[in-house]
Amino acid sequence: MVISLAPLQGYTEFPLRNALHKYIGGIDTYYTPYLKFENDGSLRQKFVRDILPENNQNINVIPQILVNNSIDFFKFHDLIKNNGYTEINLNFGCPYPMVANKQLGSGILPFPETIDRLLHEIFEKTQLKVSIKFRSGYQSPEEIVPIISIFNNYPIHELIYHPRIGKQLYKGNADIETFKTISTLSNQKLAYNGDINTIENYQVISKNISSNNHFMIGRGLLMNPFLAYEIKNGILELGAKKEKFFQLHSDIFEHYSNALSGDAHVLNKLIHLWEYFSHLFENQHKVYKQIKKCKKLSNYKFLIKEISNNESLASSK
Ligand SMILES: Cc1cc2nc3c(=O)[nH]c(=O)nc-3n(C[C@H](O)[C@H](O)[C@H](O)COP(=O)(O)O)c2cc1C
Repeated sequence: MVISLAPLQGYTEFPLRNALHKYIGGIDTYYTPYLKFENDGSLRQKFVRDILPENNQNINVIPQILVNNSIDFFKFHDLIKNNGYTEINLNFGCPYPMVANKQLGSGILPFPETIDRLLHEIFEKTQLKVSIKFRSGYQSPEEIVPIISIFNNYPIHELIYHPRIGKQLYKGNADIETFKTISTLSNQKLAYNGDINTIENYQVISKNISSNNHFMIGRGLLMNPFLAYEIKNGILELGAKKEKFFQLHSDIFEHYSNALSGDAHVLNKLIHLWEYFSHLFENQHKVYKQIKKCKKLSNYKFLIKEISNNESLASSK
């Protein structure tokens, strides 16, 4: 069974990936948040930095890209290949209107001809394995059936399916029944992604789709960085978890305090992460409320010590 970390823009960049690997483990593959070109065709350095081999040592990383034409695909192909990767992941899932309105992410799903042309041009000359992460459609889950027939015609390395439509964003539940239907229509390796937040919840989902052996987890792993490890190895003792969590936090803190300038930037990044990390604590709301109030790094550091000394972790479910 394979557990991968889902890409979450703004969260799962290389500092978190490395810290998860170093202190916790249990994750077999890490997908990067999508790399994309800006409107003027430039590529921001932060995207390149995220895939540099020196920032991803000893971990299995698959870069993800957001494109809707083969010219952009091959620009990324060469960058990704030259950095030593063997696989590229296409994002056909991003639901945000700013992206989807440009026929990117899940916004490409209502356009089967565009997808067919793109895959045809990609598979004519790609030297990398290509996997695709996608949703059930943008406007309606009916969109996915013709897309699966198109996918069936190409040697796609793997499909990763998050069974929601784009318009839903993250509302409602991931639709396991649609996942099961689609898996009967697809002739490809199909991984499951969506709403795996607890061990119990993983057990229910994995029983329900027992033919599947790759589970991608996003928010669940940010809320409980031990989730993949615990799914595979059983529940860890709370004291050991607390120590490892604060070691992980310390590496991430060090990284962003050196890489970003000004307290506000560093705090912004860290507070963002605590939106999820706070779920690890029994007093989740109190912890997050205190963290959000920090205006200076010195206050933040002091507060982290207090939390580490006084707050208990919640038990895993
Ligand atoms: C803040 C945020 C950023 C995300 N960024 C990406 C991304 O860059 N690429 C991608 O394929 N999915 C992205 N996703 C979607 C996740 O990878 C995943 O499909 C989704 O969260 C459902 O899985 P989960 O319930 O395990 O979190 C993002 C989701 C969130 C909440």
